[in-house]
Amino acid sequence: MRIKYTISLVFFVALVIIEKENNIISRVSDKLALKQTPQTPLQPSGLSHILPKHNASFTTLSKTNSAFSLIKRRLENYSQHKEVVTRGRKHILLLATTRTGSSFVGEFFNQQGDNMFFLFEPLWHVEKMLTLETGGTNATASAKAYRDVLQQLFLCDFSLLESFIEPLPVNHITTGLFRRESSSSLCEKSVCSPVIKGFFERYRCRSRRCGPLNLTMASESCLQKEHRAIKSVRVRQLENLRPLAEDPRLDVKFIQLVRDPRAVLASRMVAFAAKYKNWKQWAIDGEVPIDDDEVRKLKGNCDNIRLSAEIGLRQPAWLRRRYMLVRYEDIARFPMRKATEMYRFAGIPFTPQVKSWILKNTQASKETSGVYSTQKNSSEQVEKWRFSLPFKIAQVVQKVCGPTLKLFGYKFVSSEEMLTDKSISLIEDKVFNFL
Ligand SMILES: *[C@@H]1O[C@H](CO)[C@@H](O)[C@H](O)[C@H]1NC(C)=O
Ligand SMILES: *[C@@H]1O[C@H](CO)[C@@H](O)[C@H](O)[C@H]1NC(C)=O
Ligand SMILES: *[C@@H]1O[C@H](CO)[C@@H](O)[C@H](O)[C@H]1NC(C)=O
Ligand SMILES: *[C@@H]1O[C@H](CO)[C@@H](O)[C@H](O)[C@H]1NC(C)=O
Ligand SMILES: *[C@@H]1O[C@H](CO)[C@@H](O)[C@H](O)[C@H]1NC(C)=O
Repeated sequence: MRIKYTISLVFFVALVIIEKENNIISRVSDKLALKQTPQTPLQPSGLSHILPKHNASFTTLSKTNSAFSLIKRRLENYSQHKEVVTRGRKHILLLATTRTGSSFVGEFFNQQGDNMFFLFEPLWHVEKMLTLETGGTNATASAKAYRDVLQQLFLCDFSLLESFIEPLPVNHITTGLFRRESSSSLCEKSVCSPVIKGFFERYRCRSRRCGPLNLTMASESCLQKEHRAIKSVRVRQLENLRPLAEDPRLDVKFIQLVRDPRAVLASRMVAFAAKYKNWKQWAIDGEVPIDDDEVRKLKGNCDNIRLSAEIGLRQPAWLRRRYMLVRYEDIARFPMRKATEMYRFAGIPFTPQVKSWILKNTQASKETSGVYSTQKNSSEQVEKWRFSLPFKIAQVVQKVCGPTLKLFGYKFVSSEEMLTDKSISLIEDKVFNFL
C-alpha cells in the first residue's frame, strides 16, 4: 500500500514535469512550423507519439518501471536542451530606423571580438524581395517574414534568408549578400573561402581577400560563437517580435535606438535625395502640403517608433529585462558610457576592442566622414541638422511627430532663432531604463 502510494505520488510529480516540457516543446515546434521552408522540412516533435497515455491503465509495476525509465531519459534530454539555452548565450537585436546612427551603434557589437557573431541588415534581402513581389504592401506578411528570418538567424540557420537572396544561392554559396563586409564575422578567416579570379571586387572583405560567401561556413562559425547580434532598420513594431522573446532557445535583448525625428528627416533629405525630393522642394518653397502622402508616411514612421517604445517601456512580462531604449543623441555625447550601459544590459563583457574602437571613432576628424560613414565627430554631428532643416519643416515634424518627440524628450522649437541657437539644448535629460 505504502509503496503504491509513493509510486503514484512520484509518478504524478513526473507527469506534471512532463506536461510542462510538452508545452515548451510544442511551442518550439509551433514556431518551427511557422518558418518552415523547403530547405528545412518540419521535424515532428517526436515526443508525444512515443509517450504512453498516463492514466489508470498503468497497473503493473513493470509497466510503471518502463514508463519511469522513459520519463528519465526524456528528462535527461530536456535538461541537456535547457543547458544549451541557459549557458549565457545572448541574442542582441538592435532595432532602429534609417539615419538614426544604427551603423555606428551596430559597430559597438560588431567590434566585440571573437565571441560575437554580428549580422548587418540581413533583412535588406527580405524587404527587397517582398517589394519586388508584392510592392511590400502586405505589412502582415512582411512582419512575419522579418520575424521568422531573425529567429532562424539567431539560431545560425541561414536557410530562410537564403530563399530571399537574389540570385538564389547555389549550394549555399552567394556573391550577393548585402554589405557582407560590414559584418566582421562574415570576413573572418574561417568564413573566407578562396578567391575566384575575376570576381574578387564584387564581394571583397576589407580585412582580407575572400571568395564568394559560403553560408554553410557562416552558419558553422555562428554556432561556435558565444553571442549573436543583428542590426536592423526594418522591423516596424516591436510587438511583432514577441515570439522571439518567448522562444526558449533564445535569450533575446532588444535595444531600440531612436533619434530626434527632425534630425532624421534632415539627414534623409541629404542621404536619400531622390526619394526625398518633395521634401527638398518644400524646404525651398517654405510650404508643406500637410495632407501629402509623404507627410502621412512620416507620421506613420513616428507612430511605429513610439508605439514600439511605449510597449518596451511598459515592460510587459514577455519583455521584462529584454528591452532597452537608447537615444542616438546620448550615444553621440557619451559614447563610452552608453556603450557600457548597453553591454551591461545585454549581459555580455565589454571588451577592450570595443573600447578602443569607440575611442578611435568618436574623435575622428571631419575629413574622414562620408554620407554612410560611422567615423564622425559625434558630438558635433548631433546638432548639425539644426542648421540645415528649415524652421517650416521642423514645425511640420513637430506637428505630426509631436507625441514621439515628447516621449523621447526632444524639445519643440517655437522660432527660427530658437532652432539655430546652439546655446539652447533640444535634448532633455531623460532616463528610460530600469537597469
Ligand atoms: C485512459 O486509458 C484509456 C484506456 O487505455 C483510454 O481510452 C483513455 O483515453 C485514457 N484517458 C486519458 C485521460 O488519457
Ligand atoms: C533523446 O534525444 C535523442 C537525440 O536527440 C533522441 O534520439 C532520443 O529519442 C531522445 N530520447 C527520448 C526518450 O526522447
Ligand atoms: C497578407 O499576408 C497574410 C499573411 O501571409 C495573408 O494571410 C493575407 O491574405 C495577405 N493579405 C493580402 C491582402 O494579400
Ligand atoms: C562550403 O562550406 C562547407 C562547410 O565547410 C563545405 O562542406 C562545402 O564544400 C563548401 N562549399 C563550397 C562550394 O566550397
Ligand atoms: C568634436 O566636436 C566638438 C564640438 O564641436 C569639439 O569640441 C571637439 O574638439 C571636436 N573633436 C575633434 C577631434 O574634432
